[in-house]
Amino acid sequence: MMKTLYREKYRPQFHYSPEKKWMNDPNGMVYYEGEYHLFYQYHPFGTTWGPMHWGHAISRDLIHWEKLPIALFPDEHGTIFSGSAVIDWNDTTGFFQGGSGIVAIYTSHDVYPGTERPRQQQCLAYSNDKGRTWVKYEGNPVLADKSVTDYRDPKVFWHEESEKWVMILATGQTITLYTSLNLIEWEYASEFGHKAGSHDGVWECPDLFELPVDGDDNNKRWVMLVSIGDNPSFPEGSRTQYFIGQFDGKTFVNENSDGTVLWLDNGRDNYAGVSWSDMPEADGRRIYIGWMSNWRYANVLPTEGWRSAMTLPREILLTSDETGVRILQKVVSEFELLRKHTETIKEIIVESSNPFQCVVQSRLMEVKISFEKRDTTSFGAIFKNYHQEELIIQYDTESHKLTVDRRNAGISNFSDSFATIQEAIVKLENNQIHLQILLDTSSIELFTDNGKTVFTSLIYPEEPYNELILFSTRGAVHVSSLQLTDLSSIWDNGIRS
Ligand code: FRU
Repeated sequence: MMKTLYREKYRPQFHYSPEKKWMNDPNGMVYYEGEYHLFYQYHPFGTTWGPMHWGHAISRDLIHWEKLPIALFPDEHGTIFSGSAVIDWNDTTGFFQGGSGIVAIYTSHDVYPGTERPRQQQCLAYSNDKGRTWVKYEGNPVLADKSVTDYRDPKVFWHEESEKWVMILATGQTITLYTSLNLIEWEYASEFGHKAGSHDGVWECPDLFELPVDGDDNNKRWVMLVSIGDNPSFPEGSRTQYFIGQFDGKTFVNENSDGTVLWLDNGRDNYAGVSWSDMPEADGRRIYIGWMSNWRYANVLPTEGWRSAMTLPREILLTSDETGVRILQKVVSEFELLRKHTETIKEIIVESSNPFQCVVQSRLMEVKISFEKRDTTSFGAIFKNYHQEELIIQYDTESHKLTVDRRNAGISNFSDSFATIQEAIVKLENNQIHLQILLDTSSIELFTDNGKTVFTSLIYPEEPYNELILFSTRGAVHVSSLQLTDLSSIWDNGIRS
């Protein structure tokens, strides 16, 4: 059994997945004393969603993860839904005898006594041994509101200017902000979002942080992430939107019109992403991770023994263009640790009558392709295996659509919603488009347009792809560079559990 653990069919080799059983949202990500903590929604007794616990893993490099025992178990207040963690550096809570430690702020979920109506309240737990053991705060819950049923997923951060803790909470289809001096007593600050953005589903798992635009510290914006739950009326299932604006410690002001909807990802499988707290100042990056799944089919994905993985950790940056301030995503630089051998082929002319074909040996790959449009109308790349399964990435120069077609990329019979084409509008720059494709055993992450457009998509090929085809549908396309890099598995150096 131990021998095959982490080597099962479809087991991600460079994405975090739980050793066994069910996982959903990432929770409580915080950096403390050299360790990146990743907690997550975890059901230890099943491979589908169930009574939630907080699972736990740590990493020193954001790439290799070590599984730790379950951090938070259900208690008299209910099961443990999503939330965040912070370092209480100045012992504002009084939990740490003047020192510092980790405080988790999460939602307890049960029902109002004698009814079936869900009850969601915010609670605290703390650890003074670097997250290894936890004490639930005896005064729990610290925040409740009987008038709101969906009242969950607190993300907390220290707001320097006002010298207060701020909590951003999902409240039905709005966001409610609270402030506190000690994480225990919370005061209402404001509500955001009645009409803004997408209301296609319940609002969940928000985050709020400030970043410079194009690296300019004199030009900053606040970014609000809001995930929206699955709604059968829309094909996309659950997905994440974001807002750009200003925040003064109490109120978030959206700088776009209410009707503007900005999506974090053009693929189907990036949900509930939130960022790490307490990154060292010298590092300064804003890094997040998402749950690489979708509520539409998360419970029926074809894996055995465990279910779900996280996206790769990504840095979030801001840039501005003619449409406004937008998020850029880049895989964290630590990804370099996975790169083994790179092969580069330059100056390939691909004609419609003469596609370029090559054998790909590794099932874990980074593929970088720079296409330059000649007289073609449409071109792209296909990953293929002996089962005739094909993952097709295609760009259309007339509609400017970039598509990731997983309809025949592998098995999809477990859900009617899975076999899809995902698309984004991407403008060519100097007639060129650069793709960075990361292929794990059951996912593809595609970054382009400097990270402005990202596709995160699950795939379940019967066997690894072993052929890469570059094609043009009419006329020619010039591939100035094709780079294939073999990646190592994070489980190669023994199982860390
Ligand atoms: C989002 C979510 C959260 C909730 C958790 C329960 O995926 O629905 O809103 O806290 O999952 O597991």
